[in-house]
Parts: sequence; structure tokens; C-alpha cells
Amino acid sequence: MSELAGNSIKSRVEKSPSLRKLYNNIMKDLEEVEQELRLFSRSPNKLISDISTYLFQTNGKRIRPALLLLCSKLLGYKGKEHILMSTLVEAIHTASLIHDDIIDNSKIRRGRESIHARWGPNITVLLGDYLYIKALGLSLQSKHRQIIQILTSISARMVEGELTEYYVSGNLGLAEKDYLDIINKKTASLFSASCRIGGILGKASKEEENYLAEYGANLGMSFQIIDDLLDFTGDEKTLGKPILCDLSEGRITLPLIYTLNNDGRENKKRVIELLKQKNQDKQSLEEILKIVKSNGALDYTHKKAEEFSHKSIEIISQFPKSTQQEALSLLSEFILKRRN
Ligand code: FPP
Ligand code: MG
Repeated sequence: MSELAGNSIKSRVEKSPSLRKLYNNIMKDLEEVEQELRLFSRSPNKLISDISTYLFQTNGKRIRPALLLLCSKLLGYKGKEHILMSTLVEAIHTASLIHDDIIDNSKIRRGRESIHARWGPNITVLLGDYLYIKALGLSLQSKHRQIIQILTSISARMVEGELTEYYVSGNLGLAEKDYLDIINKKTASLFSASCRIGGILGKASKEEENYLAEYGANLGMSFQIIDDLLDFTGDEKTLGKPILCDLSEGRITLPLIYTLNNDGRENKKRVIELLKQKNQDKQSLEEILKIVKSNGALDYTHKKAEEFSHKSIEIISQFPKSTQQEALSLLSEFILKRRN
């Protein structure tokens, strides 16, 4: 109980000045979402309840629920369905992460042992399936058939993105547009859906709904590009996960795509040579990092994230000024500056 209390969403937000500013007006709703996530974790099956409780106690930023809450309130929504729907997008996100950690062989998530490192891959696959199916089952409570359709279709898109990313891992000829398509599917689709669902709850017009979805998609693109950048530049302790994982697992992300397309012949040759080694040691990864740092790839990657982030701000500024509109715009800036 004390661990739970110390790790409440309120205390997590209070520790971060930027999140405090962003979440100021939705704190009460976010606390209700946390409560709903705790109910979601309950099960007569001890294994399910133990793992789910471990999962939802973590210090996640709850960006997707926050987006859904803010977008619904932006449109003046006064009902209660936004709490359950925000819980479901977080549950789908969590299910996807625990599967992703198996695929990526990531032993640490949010500063603690990942689920598969602690309980093994078989239990983790089944728990991810359980969470995902439970979330979709609960979505049937929605009055809006369209929301159920969105949640099922974007889940399929997320799987497609993750599948393609895995399939092309190690492909050193991956084009930037194919990388962008992968992250659009695996990450931006859930951001976009969270915003669209908020809009639907708030009875947005079709045009407003599409704007919100576009805003979310651009934000999601920026989020994932920064995530991939942090794999090169981040601090493991702050990130709560190891760095240089994409490289060691053969995942081709934007800094590497830029390097392979723009660095000089010698560096490119050396990077390819190092990447083709089986089980690169720390020294090889550091050498690639040094090359990536030297050729402008990191600046280029950050600029790409800025482009998406600015686009999202441009879209959200079309809505009348309000505290929610301001928070959504600040969220786009926060994502660019984040360190974890
Ligand atoms: C994290 O990417 C992974 C995702 C954003 C999506 C993962 C999607 C699936 C596993 C498909 C299954 C989906 C459902 C709905 C069950 P990352 O590895 O770049 O981020 P990380 O560094 O935080 O691990
Ligand atoms: Mg991963």
C-alpha cells in the first residue's frame, strides 16, 4: 500500500514541473483513471492480479489517457465514459509494451525488471493477450460503436507496425519513408485514436474529429522519433531502460538511416561492418555511436521530431483558445524536451 501511495499519479506529476503544468486541469480525472486501472488489475486469479498490479504501479506518464481526457474536455464533454476509455487505451498500450519487451529482448522497463524478465516469455505473452482482450471486452460498454471499431482497427495497425519493424530488422537499406510508416502504425496510431475517441465523446464534428486525430498522429510521430533518439543519447537511469538497444537488436531507426545515407564512404563502410558482426560488444556499439554523433544524424533526427511536433501545434491551434487547447499544445513541446 505504501508503495502504491508513494507512486500515485499525483505524486508522480508533482515531481515533474512540466507534467504538473500539463495535467493541472485533469488531475482529478487522471486519479480516477488510476483507480480504474487498479480495478482492471483485479482478478480472482492470483498470477493475473499479481502481474497486473506490478504493471500498473509503474511510473508511466499516462500520455495516452491524458490526451483522451484533454480532447474530450476540449469539446466540452461532461459525461463519465472518458474515464473508462482512457483506462482502456492505457491497458492496450501496456499490453503492447509487454509483448514488445519480449520481441526487443528488453529486460528493464520503467526502471524495473520487465514482465518477461521476471515471469518468463510464456506467461508474458498470455498476460498481454489477457489485458488486450479484457480491454476490448470492456470497450463494448461504450455507447459508441465507432469507438469499438477504432480500438480494434488501431490494435491491428499496431501489430502490423511491430511485425514490419521486426521483419525489416537488420535491413541496412531501410528507407526513411518506410521507417516513418512503421512508427506511424506501431506508435502514432494509438496517440491518434486516443485523441479521436476524446473528440467522439465530446460530440466533435467530423472535421474536428479528423483534426484531433491528425494532431494525435503528429504528436505520436514526434514521440517515437524522440524515443529512438533517446536510445542513442539518453541516460539509462533517467530513461528507466537501457540505451543502444535498437542498435544491438538490429532495429534500424532514423539516426542510423541518416548515417547510412549521408556519412562519408569510410564511416558508412565501418558502420556496416560493425552492424554485421554477430553480438556486438559494448566497444562496437560505442564506435557506431561516435560516428552517429559526428555526422549530424542526431540533429537531423531531432529536427524531424520538431517538424511533427510543430505540425501538431499548428493543428491544435485551429481550436478556440481554452485551458485544454493550451495543455495539448504544451504537450507537443514537452514531448520534444523529454528525457524519459
Ligand atoms: C514500443 O516501441 C512498442 C510499441 C509502441 C508498439 C508495440 C506493439 C505490439 C507489440 C503489437 C501488439 C499490440 C497489442 C495491442 C497487443 P519501442 O520498442 O521502440 O519502444 P521502447 O524503447 O519503449 O521499447
Ligand atoms: Mg521496445
